[in-house]
Amino acid sequence: MEKQQKSRHVVLVMVTFQGHITPMLQLASILHSKGFSITIVHPEFNSPNPSNHPEFTFISIPDKLTESHFSDKDAASPVWNLNKNCAAPLQQCLEKILHSLHHIAAVIYDTLMYSAQTITEDLGLLGIVLRTGSATTMLFYPAFSQLDEEHFVYEIKSPELQALQLKRLRALLSQNATKAMTEVRVAFANVLKRSSAIIVNSMEFLELEALSKVKQYFPAPIITIGPLHKFAPAICSSLLTEDDKCISWLNKQAPKSVIYVSFGSIANIDKQELIEIAWGLSNSKQPFLWVVRPGMVRGSEWIESLPNGFEESVGERGCIVKWAPQKEVLAHAAVGGFWTHCGWNSTIESICEGVPMLCRPFFGDQHLNTSSICNVWKIGLELQNLERGNIERTIKRLMVDMEGNGIRKRAIDLKEKAAFYLMEEGSTSCSLNMLIKHILSV
Ligand code: UDX
Repeated sequence: MEKQQKSRHVVLVMVTFQGHITPMLQLASILHSKGFSITIVHPEFNSPNPSNHPEFTFISIPDKLTESHFSDKDAASPVWNLNKNCAAPLQQCLEKILHSLHHIAAVIYDTLMYSAQTITEDLGLLGIVLRTGSATTMLFYPAFSQLDEEHFVYEIKSPELQALQLKRLRALLSQNATKAMTEVRVAFANVLKRSSAIIVNSMEFLELEALSKVKQYFPAPIITIGPLHKFAPAICSSLLTEDDKCISWLNKQAPKSVIYVSFGSIANIDKQELIEIAWGLSNSKQPFLWVVRPGMVRGSEWIESLPNGFEESVGERGCIVKWAPQKEVLAHAAVGGFWTHCGWNSTIESICEGVPMLCRPFFGDQHLNTSSICNVWKIGLELQNLERGNIERTIKRLMVDMEGNGIRKRAIDLKEKAAFYLMEEGSTSCSLNMLIKHILSV
């Protein structure tokens, strides 16, 4: 009995950005429900509150990150420094756990904490990587590591992959790539190549073509275990406090009338962009729920840079909060559209509720997700620029015009497919069984 308990201990190495905390905690919760005991090792910044999850053991390791590592200019800098600074403490931590438990069934690490792969391998442990983004993003990593554009583009022939416009996106992502960015991408490719399995928060049917291509690049089994939020709906993972008053506001709005606006947990805008968004929303005449995180507007505490006359012109038609209970919002009958930055969690949450999207990507995988949303699944429109007239017109195209009806219909079709996939005997439970079997294989 004791031996069995020991062999069911899994260590999760979490990276503490909001979009990465959530899927890792969801995975922890799913594995815990299957009888695994869980230790979560994480860097010090944005430490999750252990009292919210008494069922898990949390261990924090020093990360030595400072404000300057999070500067807007180089999105790869915190990731690169995190791996450099956390490698030694992570190794010590895993050795200590191993010493006290004698056995760890598996170490599951976020792709962003790529240094965990070598450490795990050196300790003779089973290393599994959790890719918190889409499966499609993995198409890029071999290309980035080989730096072989011709090979990359010509290999991709299927109509679905052509629709992604990978060549254009690759050029966009390669623009001004810093040294840290290039190194991080190569490290991502290596960690995906060398891990014993790859867990992806996605659904097989959603990314069929990309998955079949990705499987040719990476030898490890790819386990599509998503949408994680549907399997662990109760998990509390928000770093900011959710403001529930927006739900009572939504309760007063007409069905499918509200555009929900949120740019996730990292993206920033400047004061002029805030002003353009404000007038675009106001002039669209649609009710809106807008998440403006404290500090999201560069140089402002919160919304003090909103233009004069904006509040009067909007009145009760608008609701601004610092952080919303997003999954509840997306599932609300009043919400008819989601203006999103296209982070993967937001994308998959919106798909599961059948909410069509207005896409304004900021960086990294958000561009690729936008391409999937607008060109492959055709459940959204891309917002080309943040000019008030353009915002007003694009909101109307999505929320009011005939064009929006077709997009909404496809979004609802995709939601139904996702619901069917979730219900279907075998699909996800099969992925979960595959993961459990893999963890217990050593
Ligand atoms: C980051 C990257 O920006 C993104 O590109 C990558 O795919 C994941 O990591 P983030 O910007 O936070 O993520 O976006 P996203 O992946 O969409 O995750 C945001 C999470 O915060 C979602 O689960 C969403 O439900 C939640 N959220 C957001 C709230 O609960 N309330 C809010 O008001 C806003």
